[in-house]
This record gives sequence, C-alpha cells and structure tokens, in this order.
Amino acid sequence: MKIALFPGDGIGPEIMGEARRVLDAIDLRGLVLFEGDVGGAAYRRYGHPLPPETLDMAKAADAVLFGAVGDPACDNLERHLRPEQAILGLRSQLGLFANLRPATMFPGLEDMSALRPEVASQIDLLIVRELNGDVYFGEKAMRVLDDGRRQGYDFMSYAEDEVRRIAHVAFRAAQGRKGKLCSVDKANVLETSQLWRDVVIETHAEYPDVELSHMYVDNAAMQLVRNPGQFDVVVTGNLFGDILSDQASMCVGSIGLLASAALGERQTDFGTFGMYEPIHGSAPDIAGQGKANPMAMILSLAMLLRHSLGLEAEAARIEAAVGKTLEDGVLGADLGGSAGTSEVGDAVLARL
Ligand code: IPM
Ligand code: MG
Repeated sequence: MKIALFPGDGIGPEIMGEARRVLDAIDLRGLVLFEGDVGGAAYRRYGHPLPPETLDMAKAADAVLFGAVGDPACDNLERHLRPEQAILGLRSQLGLFANLRPATMFPGLEDMSALRPEVASQIDLLIVRELNGDVYFGEKAMRVLDDGRRQGYDFMSYAEDEVRRIAHVAFRAAQGRKGKLCSVDKANVLETSQLWRDVVIETHAEYPDVELSHMYVDNAAMQLVRNPGQFDVVVTGNLFGDILSDQASMCVGSIGLLASAALGERQTDFGTFGMYEPIHGSAPDIAGQGKANPMAMILSLAMLLRHSLGLEAEAARIEAAVGKTLEDGVLGADLGGSAGTSEVGDAVLARL
C-alpha cells in the first residue's frame, strides 16, 4: 500500500504531521509512504507548484493525502505558477472528477454551528462536486478590448459525458444513503446548467429507487441555512460545489472539520485511487503557530483508508476517535476552544 503525502503550504505541514501520527498509530503492515512538494513550497524548490517529480509520485501511489496550498507571497506570479495550480493540476491530470464532501453534525457541537442548534443538529449531507470541468478549466484570459478597457473572461461549459459520469456517482451515493438526490444548477440562466439538468434527468432513468429533485444554486444556498436537514446527497458543478461546501462547513461548525475525497475511475489493488484533502485552505494567518485544527486532515486520512485502501474498520475507528474528542470538548480555536494542533492530535490518538 503506497500513500503519497503532499503537505503543501501554510498550515499544511502542521496538520499533515498529526495525520501522520494517526497513520503510524494505526500501524498498517506493508505501508510505504512518500513525501512530495506541492504549491508555493514546490515553487520555491523547483520553480513550479506541481513539479513532474510530484506528479509521478502521485501516479505511482494508491492514494494521495494532500494538506493545503496557497501562499500570499505567490499572489503576483503568473496564474500557471500559483500554488493553487498544484491541486487543480493533480485533479485534472489524475482524472479525479468526483469530489465527495460530507458534512455531518458531530454530536455535542450543535452550539458551534452558525445556525440555531436545533436546525444544525439535522445536518447529514454529502456534496458530490464535479471536479474536472466547468469554468475552472475553460479557456480564460485577460485581454484589452478595442476601446482600451481591460476584460477578464472564463469560459463555462460541461459536455454531456462529464455530467453523466458525476451523476452516476451521485445516484449511487444516494442509493447507499437515504435515497434522495438534489441536483443544484442555475438552469434558469445558464445553458451549461440546462444541459446539466437534462443529463441528470436522463441518468435518473437508471436509478428509479432514488428520489431526484432540482434546485437553483441561489435557492440551494438559502435552503442550506434555512433547513439543511432536507438534504441527503447534493450533486453540483465545480464552481457551485466549491462555494456550497464552504457554506456547509460553517453550518456544521467549522471549516476545520470537513474532509474530502477526489476520486476517478482508476482502481488499485485495494480500492479506488483518490486524493484526500481538507476542504479548507492553507490559512497563512495562523501558519506555523501550532493553532490549526488538524481534524479535517485526520478525517481525510480516514476517507483515504476507506475508499482507496479498503480499510473500513480503520477508517471508522479514526472517525469515532475524532467524534469522541469533539464530544469531550477538546476544541481548537476555530471552535471556540484553546487546544492547539498537537493537543488535538494527542487527544485523537488517546481515543484511538
Ligand atoms: C477547494 C479549494 C480549491 C478549489 C482551491 C484551492 C483551488 O477552494 O478545494 O475547495 O477552488 O477547488
Ligand atoms: Mg473551496
């Protein structure tokens, strides 16, 4: 079993350190770890946020555990050299089109939610975000118009096969949960979304046991704070999924709690090849201070064990230890507590 660890920038290395301790504690036989550079860290070392060495390492592994990328010192670089290109490049070059972002209320944390506790307690949803298309990967540029005004543009599109394959992932996910799928789009304005909706409806014919609904993204943003308990599985495009998953995290209580999996079609000897990362960023404002909450990173490791290595029991053990840590009130600053990165890690390890 080979795992590539890419800590990245900002708080990435700190939280990766805690995930690493959890991995060591699980003590898997035959596990081989590689460590690679991504993001601003890789740019400084190799002159590129996703050097070929790193990409090759990812391809040779059964799974990638990814910390975070983003570095204000790199904000003025040309776009293709910015840290974010590491994650976008890995997602596209490894064909990781299906992003699973679960958001579930942890018992005992209801008061930490930005929502009223009785509303927040109902949250148990999964956002299935398309990750290889949309406005993220369309043609984009800055240009100067004939009259001298500068213009930026980004081309939004989805081809039907791109929608179909993510729809299949979402319908199957719904079958394994409460059997409800809500497809989020902006079909009242965008042709991209009209095609999205048509293809999701066509694909539904193969899943008569799943209850399908559609929602415009503005309404979905509103419903997510009004009554998040109505959602089971949500399927949406790359941009809308990016936004709604950050929103869902604060409904749960902190962006420091949400893990994610990016999966493609490649199978390994143990499961599906994937890349796993917290949904939060590199948090440069608190980097290097030992303050970051490592839970999203540790929960991402649990997802890795489940989906890529077929280790359901170990994944469940880690999730239970994180849940118990929260229930016992060991909380980082993001949750109004005072536990630092390694204290949270210690607490999780003790409960493991
Ligand atoms: C995420 C992040 C990334 C995205 C950034 C870092 C490019 O916000 O994984 O949600 O926009 O997808
Ligand atoms: Mg995001």
